[in-house]
Amino acid sequence: NIIPVLTIDGPSGVGKGTIARIMAQKKNWHLLDSGAIYRAFALTIDTREINIADEKALRKIAETLDVKFKTKSGNKLVSIYLDGKDVSKILRTEKIGKMASKIASIEVVRAMLLKRQKDFSETPGLVADGRDMGTTVFPDALFKVYLTASVDERVNRRLKQLQAQGSEGIILNILSDVVDRDKRDYTRKYSPLKPAKDALIIDSTKLSIDEVIIQVIALVEA
Ligand code: C5P
Repeated sequence: NIIPVLTIDGPSGVGKGTIARIMAQKKNWHLLDSGAIYRAFALTIDTREINIADEKALRKIAETLDVKFKTKSGNKLVSIYLDGKDVSKILRTEKIGKMASKIASIEVVRAMLLKRQKDFSETPGLVADGRDMGTTVFPDALFKVYLTASVDERVNRRLKQLQAQGSEGIILNILSDVVDRDKRDYTRKYSPLKPAKDALIIDSTKLSIDEVIIQVIALVEA
């Protein structure tokens, strides 16, 4: 009995989260926002003031990390719960994002989080978004998408997203953040960002969300 898994990988700010949420709602499948797992890990380290060189402490956190996702139909946002508390807002801050990007290059962290992420695969299906869903976490997934978009377009989208939330973004800061994250994601030794061999590559630079969704649905329904 194979559980269908749809993986959506790609660089920061490409819109994976939006596409993943819409697909999970359409199919009524579970959702794994793997970036949020790394962010929740970072938040735990930050709150408990743990030294990232303390491997024993990192292992303990990975073993006990309790992250859950809740999507309400018609709702544009996914709520993320850490130890039963809604931490959606704080996880999205730049500080936690930066920390997450850094700890994501530590081998023991990635290794320990592997099984935790695999466990999200449950009936009737799963949509998983991140950087290595199709290559490392779910290499046997039935459906794989790799989303790309130019750096300029991704910076623009983040700027608009910040404005929609009522906060102002400084374009140069966003640009340097996207470039830094790309560099860490593409060049890290363990599980670097790259398309799985059997992934459908979608360049969304000039596509609307609906146009991307049409392609993803075509893949899943084929
Ligand atoms: O996608 P998001 O920005 O929430 O991810 C936070 C950080 O976690 C990213 O900068 C990325 O480096 C890391 N990450 C990862 N592997 C994943 C998902 C996220 O290394 N599968």
